[in-house]
Amino acid sequence: MKTKIAVLGGGNLGSALAQGLARTDEASSAYQVTITRRNAGLIRHLEDQGITVTSDNIAATEQADQIILAVQPTQIEELINEIKPALDPDKHIIASTMAGISSDEIAKLTGPGFAILRIMPNTAAAINESMTCIEQTSHKEAEERIVALFETLGKTLVINSELMEASTVLGACGIAFFLRYIRAASQGGNEVGFHAEDAQLIAAQTALGASSLLLNSNTHPEQEIDKVTTPKGCTITGLNEMEHNGFSSALIKGIKLSYEKIENIR
Ligand SMILES: NC(=O)c1ccc[n+]([C@@H]2O[C@H](COP(=O)([O-])OP(=O)(O)OC[C@H]3O[C@@H](n4cnc5c(N)ncnc54)[C@H](OP(=O)(O)O)[C@@H]3O)[C@@H](O)[C@H]2O)c1
Repeated sequence: MKTKIAVLGGGNLGSALAQGLARTDEASSAYQVTITRRNAGLIRHLEDQGITVTSDNIAATEQADQIILAVQPTQIEELINEIKPALDPDKHIIASTMAGISSDEIAKLTGPGFAILRIMPNTAAAINESMTCIEQTSHKEAEERIVALFETLGKTLVINSELMEASTVLGACGIAFFLRYIRAASQGGNEVGFHAEDAQLIAAQTALGASSLLLNSNTHPEQEIDKVTTPKGCTITGLNEMEHNGFSSALIKGIKLSYEKIENIR
């Protein structure tokens, strides 16, 4: 029998999760996905991928085994109040994507007894390349099931709850940080001779290659950089110029400030 997943909040992230689950062979045999938003018409196209689209949160909750909360933090209280009559601690595992909201805060809204796990995926879930950090919990069976679900959407890492904010910055916000790097590299490529489209292809595929080198070979970035930087060559000249202008420092400072921002929102 298929595991029924309800994604409540079909915005940017919720839609990405549903799309990724609909794309996996495993998902098509193991998971049945329902996604909700109030303006369901805006995501009706997801039905083409075999996803059930509705604005009925209660019906979606009643039929689900696992519930993924993907609304904005300011919208959660209203949503939980709505679905509370349909929530069953003996049946439902609840996974929350919300940045800056702890499991305890959600438990206060749902009432006691639920397996509630914070998860931090990213929008690359849409193409099954998410990095999803999952909060370690005492609900081990629920944790295993959520890990299995998110393994179909990319890579997973189970982490201590104190690290959830850090994972938000590095993994979820990280998508935007890396995309901005690719955009800037494309603009540089444009200036040295490529049409914008070709520059973007070269920059994006090169970013993918660099990333795959680390993931496949388990090497350190500097080992791979050493292979590219010939003495007095153009790579080290460009790289050092970037560093003189604060490249690494800008990234580290950005990540730290982003982290402080989440901490301040809480
Ligand atoms: N975007 C990311 O990359 C990312 C990554 C990791 C975590 N997160 C977290 O994921 C959550 C969603 O982020 P997002 O960027 O996807 O936001 P979003 O695009 O604003 O999506 C939220 C969606 O929730 C729907 N919604 C609001 N109230 C609802 C209700 N009562 N019932 C059903 N649907 C409802 C909204 O649609 P309607 O107005 O039509 O109902 C909206 O489409 C946030 O808490 C965020 O912290 C996001």
